Amino acid sequence: MTSVLVLNGPNLNLLGTRRPEVYGTTTLADVDRLCRDTAAGLGLDLDFRQTNHEGVLIDWIHEAGDVRDVLGVVLNAGAYTHTSVALHDAIEAVEVPVVEVHISNVHRREVFRHHSYVSAVAAGIVVGFGVEGYALAIRGLPGLAR
Ligand code: DQA
Repeated sequence: MTSVLVLNGPNLNLLGTRRPEVYGTTTLADVDRLCRDTAAGLGLDLDFRQTNHEGVLIDWIHEAGDVRDVLGVVLNAGAYTHTSVALHDAIEAVEVPVVEVHISNVHRREVFRHHSYVSAVAAGIVVGFGVEGYALAIRGLPGLAR
């Protein structure tokens, strides 16, 4: 079955308790359910993961590039978005479309969050819609698919 890979970077395991005024009170388990339901509605399988480690995110992106039945990747890279040239290079190196997602509107926040190393190599970007952004990204993937 064709699948969508949803990857979450550092600190997103704390969703629900970390800065609820910015990220809301929804937990990552809730986001997993939202993504699973959205994917199922499109007839897609879902693989939902979180890591606090940059190299693990990079390995997972390489893996998505190798597995032909992965339609695309939805990536919330957390703070690595703003720091990781390695993540940029990994996304550039694979053919699978990657949609960048941020729960908060990073452009309304601190200046250090305004630059993304992911955006220039992303197939699409969803920013500031809260956790609903994950569902929007999944719905957009079939139109971007390789
Ligand atoms: C985030 C925004 C990043 O700046 C931050 O480091 C995060 C979460 C978001 O989803 O809004 O960890 O990616």
